[in-house]
This record gives sequence, C-alpha cells and structure tokens, in this order.
Amino acid sequence: MSGSMNRSVINHWSPENQRRAAAILASYPEDRSAVMPLLYLASREHRYVTEDAMKEVAALVGIAAAQVRSVASFYTMYKREPVGDYLISVCTSISCHLLGGDQVLAAAFSAAGVGNGETTEDGKISVERAECIGACGGAPAVQVNYELIEGITPDKIAALVAWLNDTQPNVVLTDEMQQLFGGQRSFDWGPTESVGASSAVPAFGPYGSASEGQ
Ligand code: FES
Repeated sequence: MSGSMNRSVINHWSPENQRRAAAILASYPEDRSAVMPLLYLASREHRYVTEDAMKEVAALVGIAAAQVRSVASFYTMYKREPVGDYLISVCTSISCHLLGGDQVLAAAFSAAGVGNGETTEDGKISVERAECIGACGGAPAVQVNYELIEGITPDKIAALVAWLNDTQPNVVLTDEMQQLFGGQRSFDWGPTESVGASSAVPAFGPYGSASEGQ
C-alpha cells in the first residue's frame, strides 16, 4: 500500500467497497497489480468505470490515469458508459452466427427497443453484441449479467426480455434462465449453481456482485 493517504481518494465510495479495496490492495505485493480488481470495484460503485474512478484507481496504486485507462479500454467487460440493471450479451461469433445468433440479437434489440450497446430509457436493460462467450457447443448462446443461457431462439430471447421487465429479479441465475429460456446445452451433466449475478458487473463474491439466488 502506498500509504493510507491514498485511500482517502476513494473515501466517497461505500464503506463496504472501501473495505474491499483495502483488502484487495493488501493481498498484492505490488499495488499496481490491483488495478483490475479495483476497476471491478469502481464498476460496482458507479455502475460503470467513470473517468473520475480511473483517476481514483490510479492514485490508489500509484500509476498514471492514462495507464489505468489503457486497461479499462482494452477489456470489454469494463464498461465506460452506464449500463442497465440487466446487461444482455448476445454472441454472434462463428458457432452462434451459424446457428442464428444474428437473429437472436435482432430479436433482443427489437424486444428491448434499443440498439447495440444501448440501454432502455428506464435504465433496466442493455443489449450488446458479444464475441465468443465460451459456450460454442450450446450455440446460440447469450448472457444476462454474464450468467449463461445456451440454445436460445429469437422467440425465447423476446420472452427473456419480457421476464426481466416483469419480474426484475435481484439475482439472475444460469440454471433458472436456462430452464425457462434455453435449449440444447454444451453439457447437461454440470453441477447446479446456486450463486448468480446481482448486477451487470461480472459476478465475483469479493466484489459484491455475486449472490445466492432467492
Ligand atoms: S461462438 Fe458463440 S459461444 Fe462461442
């Protein structure tokens, strides 16, 4: 840690995220190694990585804001614009493309009433085109807040959008959404997963973005 003074730069973060930031910094021998997890925390705090948050992280770890910005702009999961409560990522890479991913994406745009990377006016749903999400055997595949659904169809994704709007779940779970809206999966023998995503930040327990489903 470069010094307790630097921690004051995030003293407007929630006490819980300040505690998480301190724990993350303490777990690395070099402060700069904590840039990526701190950017996730910043996403959790502000719902996206703001310009100020990148400066805050830079001050915390003792590097230039431009270096933090270069990390945040390289990885697509660090959002630099506000996203909705539910981020729907539709894969259109080769396997999904061949099995109708573009039609699924068009149906998602139509059902939500937004274009690529846009968010509904009520701030609930964002839709984005995604590169391969590692579920090629279950194509076409989508994620909601990075929770996977495989074998989806245009009709089913329209139903998914309606379900998110109607039920507004606090936590989204792969197993539940797969059962309601999915089709053929890559593997049917996998363990069930009781932990899901509580926000559009990738679901990691240490960052407060993963929770038990209700
Ligand atoms: S191509 Fe869509 S998950 Fe791999």
